[in-house]
Formats: sequence, structure tokens, C-alpha cells
Amino acid sequence: MTGDPLTRRNVPAAFDRGAAAYDRLVGVNPGYHAHLRCSARALSLPARGAGLRLLDAGCGTGASTAALVAAAPRAEIVGVDASPGMLAQARAKPWPATVQFVDGRIEDLAGAGIDGPFDGIFAAYLIRNLPDPDTALVSLRALLRPGGVLVVHDYAVRDSVVARLVWHTVCWAVIIPAGWLTTGDAGLYRYLWRSVLDFDGARGFADRLRRAGFTGIHTSTATGWQRRIVHTFRAHRSPEQQ
Ligand SMILES: C[S@@+](CC[C@H](N)C(=O)[O-])C[C@H]1O[C@@H](n2cnc3c(N)ncnc32)[C@H](O)[C@@H]1O
Repeated sequence: MTGDPLTRRNVPAAFDRGAAAYDRLVGVNPGYHAHLRCSARALSLPARGAGLRLLDAGCGTGASTAALVAAAPRAEIVGVDASPGMLAQARAKPWPATVQFVDGRIEDLAGAGIDGPFDGIFAAYLIRNLPDPDTALVSLRALLRPGGVLVVHDYAVRDSVVARLVWHTVCWAVIIPAGWLTTGDAGLYRYLWRSVLDFDGARGFADRLRRAGFTGIHTSTATGWQRRIVHTFRAHRSPEQQ
């Protein structure tokens, strides 16, 4: 672990250090990719995405991008992430010509050359990590075309005692030891444990989306050990919003 304490601001730097092990670790998490694909399908994109433009916010090594490609193989997809190490892993994989990856912070997408409008935005395991999630959600809404859809896929355990107990158990019995064994540094995985406990429950996150101006909010939970732990939040920029 390097000197800086792991705060939301320097999360991308921590992912840089964990990038080489990321795919191996999520690959042994049962349901990880299937749940991402399920959330990407919740964007409900017509015609396999033909003519649509999608943003994968916090695309990491491309696990969420692959889920978007499966849901909308004909869409143009921009993946953005602030960790060059995670992006290098993503870029090393084979992608359709319609997929591109951009190095940039969510807080300054325009500075990274990313402009809207997008028909859909996917944010998997991202919003909880941002220094100012509310401002980021308002900015993401502004990047959507009127009527466009945001899907957030993330842990949300605050509403359920059982979910919090399972989360503690999985983190300390599996995720933190596996992260330490694989990378020699448990910092990112302890941060993951703590960040989920500190963040919203499903109801609180739906309220947060509402406060950010989204409409038509729908929440569902994943299957498997992630039941009531991992959630899919679908929300819209109202067609009337300018
Ligand atoms: C847990 S990973 C998720 C990656 C991918 N979406 C997936 O589902 O596997 C979170 C990603 O968000 C990125 N990230 C965190 N904060 C960010 C920020 N402020 N701007 C851009 N990317 C950020 C990290 O670098 C990391 O790659």
C-alpha cells in the first residue's frame, strides 16, 4: 500500500494498483458478469441498440462494457474511467469497432472530450466511489437526451440487517483475504467493505436519484448471495426536461 489514505478522490489510483488482478477476482465472484448483463438489459434498448449512443461510466477493465455490448451489440459505446491501469486491461481485449475507451474523470467528462447526448448511461460500481455523487448524478442526467435512461448497478445494504451481515461475512471471509493474496495489498478491498457500509441503502439511493432530477425510478435486486446486496436502479431523464 502506498502512503496516501484511500479516499473517494484517489479511488482510481487504487484501482490502478489492483488492475492486473481485477478480472481474476471478479471472475470467481459467482454471478458477477451475469448480474452486470442483467442490469445492462434493464436499459431496455430497442433494435439491439442500432443508432444509439451509450456511455459506460467507470468502465474499469471492461466487464460492464461487455455487458453493454451483449445488451446492445449495434450501439456506439464510450467507456470512460480515470484509472489508466484499468483502461489498459480493457483496451487489451477484443471489441467491436463501435466501442471506444477514454481516460477521464466523471467530474470532468467535457475535459475528457466526452459530450452528450447519450441515449443510455450505465454506471456499475461507480457512483458510491465518487467524491460528490449528487453533483455527478446531475451531470450524468444532463448528458442524457430527454427521455434517455440511466442504469446504476451497485451494492446497497443499508436497508437490511441481513444484507449487512452477509456483506461483513463475505468481505472478511473471502474478498479481503482473496484481494490480499492476489495483490499483496488489502487496502482496496477494505475500502470496498467500508464504502458499501457507509453508502445508501436501495431506498436512499432511489431518493438520491429523485433529488438529482431523475424520474420513473425502478429498483430490483440481484439473485444469489448478492440478493438485497447488489441492486439495479433504472431512472430516466424526463422527456420534458431541458
Ligand atoms: C469497481 S470498478 C467497476 C468497473 C466496471 N464498471 C465493472 O463493473 O467491473 C470502479 C471503477 O470506477 C473507476 N472510478 C472511480 N472513481 C472514478 C472517477 N471519479 N472518475 C472516473 N472513474 C472512476 C475506477 O477507476 C474503477 O475502474
